Amino acid sequence: MHPAAWLCWASLLLLARFTQPCPEGCDCITHEVFCSEEELTAVPLDIPLHTTSLVFVETSFSTVGTRAFSGSPSLTKVVFLNTQAYHFSPDAFGGLPRLEDLEITGSAFSNLSASIFSSLNSLSKLTLNFDLLEVLPEGLFQHMAALVSLQLQGNQLQTLPGRLFHPLGRLKVLNLAQNRLSQLPEQLFNPLISLQTLKLSNNDLSVLPQGVFGKLGSLQELFLDGNSLSQLPSEVFSQLFCLEKLWLHRNAIDHLPLSIFSSLGNLTFLSLQGNMLQTLSAGLFAQTLSLEGLSLSHNQLETIAEGAFASLSNLSSLTLSHNAITHLPAGVFRDLKMLVRLYLGSNNLTTLHPTLFQNLSGLELLSLSRNFLTTLPEGIFETNYNLFNVALHGNPWQCDCHLAYLFSWLRQYSDRLFNIQTYCAGPAYLKGQVVPALEEKQLVCPVTRDRLGFQAPGPDEQEPGSSWDIVAKERAAGSSCTYSNPEGTVVLACDEARCRWLNIQLSPRQDSGIPGLEYNASQEWDLRSNCGSVRVTVSIEAQAGGA
Ligand SMILES: *[C@@H]1O[C@H](CO)[C@@H](O)[C@H](O)[C@H]1NC(C)=O
Ligand SMILES: *[C@@H]1O[C@H](CO)[C@@H](O)[C@H](O)[C@H]1NC(C)=O
Ligand SMILES: *[C@@H]1O[C@H](CO)[C@@H](O)[C@H](O)[C@H]1NC(C)=O
Ligand SMILES: *[C@@H]1O[C@H](CO)[C@@H](O)[C@H](O)[C@H]1NC(C)=O
Ligand SMILES: *[C@@H]1O[C@H](CO)[C@@H](O)[C@H](O)[C@H]1NC(C)=O
Ligand SMILES: *[C@@H]1O[C@H](CO)[C@@H](O)[C@H](O)[C@H]1NC(C)=O
Repeated sequence: MHPAAWLCWASLLLLARFTQPCPEGCDCITHEVFCSEEELTAVPLDIPLHTTSLVFVETSFSTVGTRAFSGSPSLTKVVFLNTQAYHFSPDAFGGLPRLEDLEITGSAFSNLSASIFSSLNSLSKLTLNFDLLEVLPEGLFQHMAALVSLQLQGNQLQTLPGRLFHPLGRLKVLNLAQNRLSQLPEQLFNPLISLQTLKLSNNDLSVLPQGVFGKLGSLQELFLDGNSLSQLPSEVFSQLFCLEKLWLHRNAIDHLPLSIFSSLGNLTFLSLQGNMLQTLSAGLFAQTLSLEGLSLSHNQLETIAEGAFASLSNLSSLTLSHNAITHLPAGVFRDLKMLVRLYLGSNNLTTLHPTLFQNLSGLELLSLSRNFLTTLPEGIFETNYNLFNVALHGNPWQCDCHLAYLFSWLRQYSDRLFNIQTYCAGPAYLKGQVVPALEEKQLVCPVTRDRLGFQAPGPDEQEPGSSWDIVAKERAAGSSCTYSNPEGTVVLACDEARCRWLNIQLSPRQDSGIPGLEYNASQEWDLRSNCGSVRVTVSIEAQAGGA
């Protein structure tokens, strides 16, 4: 035979091997069959014998008959995704001894008969998400002892029969999120001794029975966020020795019993954000020694007890933003040696203690934005060797000599673009200026008891020859007057009673680029204050060069 003819034979054979029969309206790829034709009127009868995975997407048949898949005993996975199937005959899944994974998501059925899954003894994963299930019959999972994952998210479940999960001793994941559960039978989860993840997020739970998690000794993650919990029974988490992550955010918790977390020695993450907490007791976290992430934002905290975080030597992220904290005790963060990120934004802080951050040598990020801070004490970041991001915007910064420390710290260690939205709130002549864009010499203090400062405009905004720093001395004490010109470029402050005696000293700006005061110049300012107006005239007479 001619070699070309041989080749032809060979490719024909190859073709024959891959064009195995595939049901109409479906695609077959090796052992997987995908059916997505709307015209499909029922589960096809001619599914290839060795198919292991069968997926229906947006098909429109509504009934799945008795033993509909029994011609395909090799199936390990059956999926219905957004299909119209809602009527499942009692033994619909009969004859599938190897089925491990069954998913019916986005269907419109609201109930299931107790026997529908009765033959699925080897099922390990059952997903019934985003259907319209309102009730589940007590015996639904009776024959599913092998189940490892059960997903019931996004249904309309309001309550569950107390013995529903009775046979599920191997279950590791249970998802009941986004239902309408308002209460849980106290014994409901007792059989789930292997459970590792329990999701109850976004339900209507307002109370939890004391013992509801009492047998979940293997639980690692518990989601209770998005409910209406206001109080928690003091022992409710007391048996969760393995718990690592606990989500309690977006509830209405206004009080936490002192011992509530005391068994959670393995807890690494705790979210309490979005509750109504007003105080944190000192011993609350005394036993949660493994905690690495703690969020308490969006509560109503006004202060925090000095010892509240005393045991959290592994904490790396602490979020306290969006509270009403007016005061932080000097030692409140003392023991947080591993802290990397600290969020204190959107609170009512007016001052910070100079040693507040002293022991936080690993701190990299600190947010102080949206508080009422006017300045930060000198040296406050002295031991924060790794700090490079400090968010400062939204505070009424007083841009005078007291801000000099923060300013030079920003210059040295921070990205200059980072606080571009951080403005001076005062003094009047610097109001609205971007803090990191100031000149260091602009940070002067006009008001002191026996010394007053006076500053002409910075070299950028003035004509050469008028660049002076003026220090005026006056002798008496009393309440202060601050005089300034309408542009706010010249400020003179003095004590009210004796403002008439002013002793003004003039000195040239060292880096103003002008050659000292060796030529004649004179300038006048009309300055106003609540004590009245003054006219200041400064004249310099030329002397022989240099001085
Ligand atoms: C499901 O509910 C419908 C109406 O709500 C009812 O007629 C039907 O008998 C129920 N089926 C099962 C299996 O409970
Ligand atoms: C942490 O969990 C392990 C089991 O994973 C347990 O043996 C141990 O006692 C727990 N530690 C604490 C402090 O509870
Ligand atoms: C703290 O973290 C270290 C390193 O991750 C870990 O070895 C240690 O066990 C943790 N301490 C506690 C109390 O969890
Ligand atoms: C820093 O930690 C040490 C113990 O490691 C402690 O003695 C000291 O008081 C802490 N400093 C501050 C300011 O809290
Ligand atoms: C915190 O500041 C807000 C205004 O931002 C104010 O309404 C609230 O009363 C203050 N709370 C406390 C405790 O100072
Ligand atoms: C400065 O003024 C004095 C007299 O008032 C005059 O003699 C001198 O020439 C002036 N110098 C300059 C540089 O204008």
